[in-house]
Amino acid sequence: MFMIIFLFVMESIQEQCEAYGVRLFLGHYYTSLKIDTDALRIVFNTKNICNNQFQLFIKGDLEFNISNYKTKLLNMTDVYIGTKANIEYETYIHTFQIPKQLSSIILYTLIRNDTIIKQAQVKLPHLQQEKTKVLFFGDMDSSWVYNRSKQTFDWFENQIKQKIQFDSLIFTGDMAYNLESDNCQRGELWLSRISLFTSQYPFMITPGNHDSGYNRKQIFLREHFEMPYQNMYNTQDYENYFYSFNIGFVHFIQYDPVKIIYKADQNNLIRDQLLLQFRNDLITAVQNREEVPWIVVFTHYPIYCNFMDDDQCVNNFKYLAEFEKLFKEFHVDLYVSGHQHNYQRNYPYYQNDSALFEMDGNIYYNYESPITIIEGAGGADYGPEIMILENKPYTVKQMDQNGVGLLQVMNKTHLQFQQVRVSTNEIIDEFWIIQNRDTYDIDYFNLEIWIIFLIVGILIFLLILILFYLFRRLKLKFNKQYLHATDFIV
Ligand SMILES: *[C@@H]1O[C@H](CO)[C@@H](O)[C@H](O)[C@H]1NC(C)=O
Ligand SMILES: *[C@@H]1O[C@H](CO)[C@@H](O)[C@H](O)[C@H]1NC(C)=O
Ligand SMILES: *[C@@H]1O[C@H](CO)[C@@H](O)[C@H](O)[C@H]1NC(C)=O
Ligand SMILES: *[C@@H]1O[C@H](CO)[C@@H](O)[C@H](O)[C@H]1NC(C)=O
Ligand SMILES: *[C@@H]1O[C@H](CO)[C@@H](O)[C@H](O)[C@H]1NC(C)=O
Ligand SMILES: *[C@@H]1O[C@H](CO)[C@@H](O)[C@H](O)[C@H]1NC(C)=O
Repeated sequence: MFMIIFLFVMESIQEQCEAYGVRLFLGHYYTSLKIDTDALRIVFNTKNICNNQFQLFIKGDLEFNISNYKTKLLNMTDVYIGTKANIEYETYIHTFQIPKQLSSIILYTLIRNDTIIKQAQVKLPHLQQEKTKVLFFGDMDSSWVYNRSKQTFDWFENQIKQKIQFDSLIFTGDMAYNLESDNCQRGELWLSRISLFTSQYPFMITPGNHDSGYNRKQIFLREHFEMPYQNMYNTQDYENYFYSFNIGFVHFIQYDPVKIIYKADQNNLIRDQLLLQFRNDLITAVQNREEVPWIVVFTHYPIYCNFMDDDQCVNNFKYLAEFEKLFKEFHVDLYVSGHQHNYQRNYPYYQNDSALFEMDGNIYYNYESPITIIEGAGGADYGPEIMILENKPYTVKQMDQNGVGLLQVMNKTHLQFQQVRVSTNEIIDEFWIIQNRDTYDIDYFNLEIWIIFLIVGILIFLLILILFYLFRRLKLKFNKQYLHATDFIV
C-alpha cells in the first residue's frame, strides 16, 4: 500500500517536472548594455518548482555545463484573485543564460536527470557579421480549429529538417487568441507547440493588442517572453514599451504604442516617455551608422493599413504622427508591423500623404520615409479568413496566402525582403532597398561646404578691405609726393 502511494507520488512529481515550451531569446549582449554573460537565454516551463533538476550542456568555443538557472513562479491565480477572470493557473519559468561565444554555431543539450529534453544546433548571431537573416511573422494561433496556422508550423518543420539557419525570428504580435483564454490553457498549448521553432531559433517578440490579457497588463506574455528591456536595469526612467538590439549591420527597434492607440495614456505621459527613449536610441544609432547602417523598426501596429472598419487603419497616422516624424528625421529604412491579417507592402508615406522615393523595378532608393510592410499572415483562426482589401493610395501589393517575411541584409548597402508562401515555399513578393549613404552625407557635406564658403568669403572680404586700405595709403603717399614734385616745379 505504502509502496503504491510512493510510486504514485513519484510518478506525479515526474509529471510535474516535465519541461515544456522550450524557447530561446537574445539577451543584453545584443543591446546597448552589451552584457557578455547574457547572449542567449534558454527558457522553459514546468508545473512544479523542480529545483536542481535541470542541466545545460553547451558546445561552443569550449564545452561546458551550466547547472545554475533562474526559476520564477508565475501565479496567475494570484494576479486575478477576486476578479471575474476566474483563473486558477500556476507555472514555473526557468531561465538559463549563455555567455557570448566566438563560434557562430552552438550545440545545446537540455538535460533532466540524465534524460535529454532538447538538443539543438543554434546559430548565435554575431555583432560583427556580413550577412544577417531574420524572419518576420505574426498574428498566429496554435489551436487549429480551422488549421489556419498549420502550414506555417509545417513550413518551420521543413526549415529545421533542412538545417536552415536564421539569426532570429521576429514575431509581430498577437499570439494564440488569446494567451490567457481557457484558464491560460490557450497560452500553455501555444508554448508547447511553438517550441518546435522557438527551441531552434532565437525568438524576439512585440506585443499585439490580443496579448494584453484580462487586466491589460500583458502579464502572461511578458513573464513568458522576457525581452531585453532596459528597465531590467533602470527602473527609474523607463516603462517597458521599448527595446532595441543589434545584429550585424542592422539596428532593430521594437516599440509598443498600445496605450497610445487605445487611448489609455492620460496626459500623453507614456507617449512622451516613449518618444524620448526612441529619440535617444536613434541619436546613438545614427552616430554608429557607418558601422551599423540599417535601422529596422518593428511593432504590432501599422501606420497605414486597408481595413477601414478598424480605427487603426483610419487614424493610426494621427496617433503615431510624432513617431513617424522620428522615422523620417533619422532615416529609418524599414517598418514592419502586423495586425492586419495578410501581407501588405506600402509605398513610403508620410503624414497621410505620399513621400519622396525613387524606384527601379523592385529596388528602392533615396526614400524620405521608411518602406513599410504588414506581416500578419502567420495564420489566425480568429476573425475572418485572410483576405485582400480595397487598395489605398499607399498600397503596393497585398497577398492573401499564409506566409512569413524573410529579411536578408546582404551588406552595408543591400537589403532584400522576400515574402514566402508557406504552403508551397514559393517567394510571392520580393524587393530590395539600396542605401546610398552619400545622399545622407550630402546634408552634412553641404553644411561643411557652406561653413567653409562663409569663412573663405569673410577672409576674402577682409583681404579686399586690407588691400583697399593699403592701396589708398599708397595712393595718398604718391599723390603727396606728386604734389610736392609739382610744387617744386612750379
Ligand atoms: C558535463 O556534464 C556531463 C554529465 O553530467 C559530463 O559527462 C561532462 O563531462 C561534463 N562536461 C564538462 C565539460 O564539464
Ligand atoms: C498562488 O496564489 C494563490 C492566491 O493568492 C495562493 O493561494 C497560492 O498559494 C499561490 N501559489 C503559490 C505556489 O504560491
Ligand atoms: C532528479 O534529480 C534530483 C536531484 O538529483 C532528485 O531530487 C530527483 O528526485 C530526481 N528526479 C527523478 C525523477 O529522478
Ligand atoms: C485540421 O487538421 C486535422 C489534422 O490534420 C484534421 O483532422 C482536421 O479535420 C482539420 N480541420 C479542419 C477544419 O480542416
Ligand atoms: C487621409 O488620406 C485619405 C486619402 O488617401 C483621405 O481619404 C483621408 O480623409 C485622409 N485623412 C485625413 C484625416 O486627412
Ligand atoms: C552587396 O550585396 C549585393 C547583393 O548581394 C552585391 O551585389 C554587392 O556587390 C555587395 N556590395 C559589396 C560592397 O559587397
